Amino acid sequence: MPKFVKRVLPGELRSDPRPALEGGTPIRSQLLSFARPELGREEEEAVIEVLRTGWLGTGPRVAEFERAFAARVGTAHAVATTSWTAGMHLLLRAFDIGPGAEVITTAITFPATMNAVLHAGARPVLADVDPERLTLDPKCAAAAITPRTRAILPVHLYGWPCAMDDFRALAERYGLVLLEDAAQAAGATYRGRAAGSLGDAASFSLYVTKNITTGEGGMITTDRGDLVGRLRIERLHGVDLDASKRSGHAYAHWEAVSLGWKYNMGDLAAAIGLAQLAKLPRFLERRRALDARYRRLLAQIPALAPVSGPHDAETAAHLFPVLIRPGALRIDRDMLLKALLAENVGVGVHFRALPFHRHVRDTLGIGPEVVPVASDTSARLFSLPLHTLMSDDDQDDVVEALMRIARYYAA
Ligand SMILES: Cc1ncc(COP(=O)(O)O)c(C=O)c1O
Repeated sequence: MPKFVKRVLPGELRSDPRPALEGGTPIRSQLLSFARPELGREEEEAVIEVLRTGWLGTGPRVAEFERAFAARVGTAHAVATTSWTAGMHLLLRAFDIGPGAEVITTAITFPATMNAVLHAGARPVLADVDPERLTLDPKCAAAAITPRTRAILPVHLYGWPCAMDDFRALAERYGLVLLEDAAQAAGATYRGRAAGSLGDAASFSLYVTKNITTGEGGMITTDRGDLVGRLRIERLHGVDLDASKRSGHAYAHWEAVSLGWKYNMGDLAAAIGLAQLAKLPRFLERRRALDARYRRLLAQIPALAPVSGPHDAETAAHLFPVLIRPGALRIDRDMLLKALLAENVGVGVHFRALPFHRHVRDTLGIGPEVVPVASDTSARLFSLPLHTLMSDDDQDDVVEALMRIARYYAA
């Protein structure tokens, strides 16, 4: 008998089928957070060590973090930034993708994906998603190609890599740049290769909720050595020498050689990142175990369909998204979110399709009807808590709450 069945509810509660939203006693007495970074002594010590060096800017720790990250992903280069968005902005510029160009990306993603394209002055073209994986559908991407298309930007959503061979074939056929939104994909693999090494270049996010974090931060990975100089220069005000190389015994003049931004990571963040990167294998093991366990346990709730990726991929298990099967419940997704929160289970939605956002409608002039699969699925989509500080018992609570809700509100 699965463990959660044994734990279902203490005696007096078991007889009460009412969800907490309907007056029942919440399954948990305290909220289970939806996402939490795992930070420990290693990060503390790494930060203190940097503080004591007196060098907080971009310096040796950043260089070390870049080398370690590139080695982990299997690319020749990595360039540390202040965010995924900064990294993707730099990449689009490095590929000379700007005004007049179109970049095809997915309709289900965080708005940052399209914002980076807008920052570069190009036009994001939102294509529809695969109804089961919820990632960019290669057929829809192909149908969106025009003479102005310069790049395809698939998003490895939830930690599942996209089927990149399909996009690689499209990119080769039409001479397009293939960029990866690997914001959620640290640790994912596709056909044995790491996310971040599957296109011409990739950007990762190291934001607090990601599989590894530097607080705020990002990392570009690429084999394109010819781009790296420009990426580094535009990352720091467009000057050709970073501060760590401008001080010391010999003074070297620096020169502003182009327009640039303030997108450079500092050594404090990199020190945290190095400690996190060393823990990534353990984090992945735990995340994948929780992911597999959710799939086993949720198989008993026919109203719910967990999202997964291609069979020849290994997920980074960043998020655990679930679709409500059409017509299976008397309540909609938003009521389900309320019901879970009433049971003290944290929730998320990743994501409402972009055309549901005013900014997207105003900027691109498109509505949800343009991407019908994304619009339908994202209205039935929610995410369950998944992080390394969760115990199996915490996870059992989530499943119990879902069982109670699914039974009570069954259609
Ligand atoms: C798919 C995706 N792309 C891009 C981003 C943006 O990352 P950042 O906040 O590091 O710029 C996120 C962050 O949540 C994301 O989930």
